Amino acid sequence: MNANALDKIEYGMFVLTAQDNGKDNGCIINVVSQVTDTPRRIAFTVNKKNMTHDMVMNTGKFTISILSENTNMEVIEHFGFHSGHDTNKFENYTNAERAENGI
Ligand SMILES: Cc1cc2nc3c(=O)[nH]c(=O)nc-3n(C[C@H](O)[C@H](O)[C@H](O)COP(=O)(O)O)c2cc1C
Repeated sequence: MNANALDKIEYGMFVLTAQDNGKDNGCIINVVSQVTDTPRRIAFTVNKKNMTHDMVMNTGKFTISILSENTNMEVIEHFGFHSGHDTNKFENYTNAERAENGI
């Protein structure tokens, strides 16, 4: 495979969040798609090594926030460079609102 071809693929940037056992957590993901209209379904991918993956699998619940092109690098670092296994990402994180599902 020509790895340079990968640079030509467009993708989005999202924060996938979940809550399990009272702990909030989230990670950056790149792939979210609407796959059907009726029923309305989306698909997303998340690495099985990510703590957020296990939280979604345990609870069946999640929220996906679509990041804008103007998103501060700090947000991407916060959710994409650190794992909830090692840190509480929402401790002192005041820039977040809960969605209807509480996540
Ligand atoms: C720019 C960027 C893009 C990323 N894209 C993905 C992705 O598409 N899928 C994924 O599973 N992880 C992706 N990651 C990595 C996770 O966000 C990262 O491993 C995170 O620390 C996992 O956190 P968690 O263990 O708390 O869930 C990306 C990270 C960055 C910085």
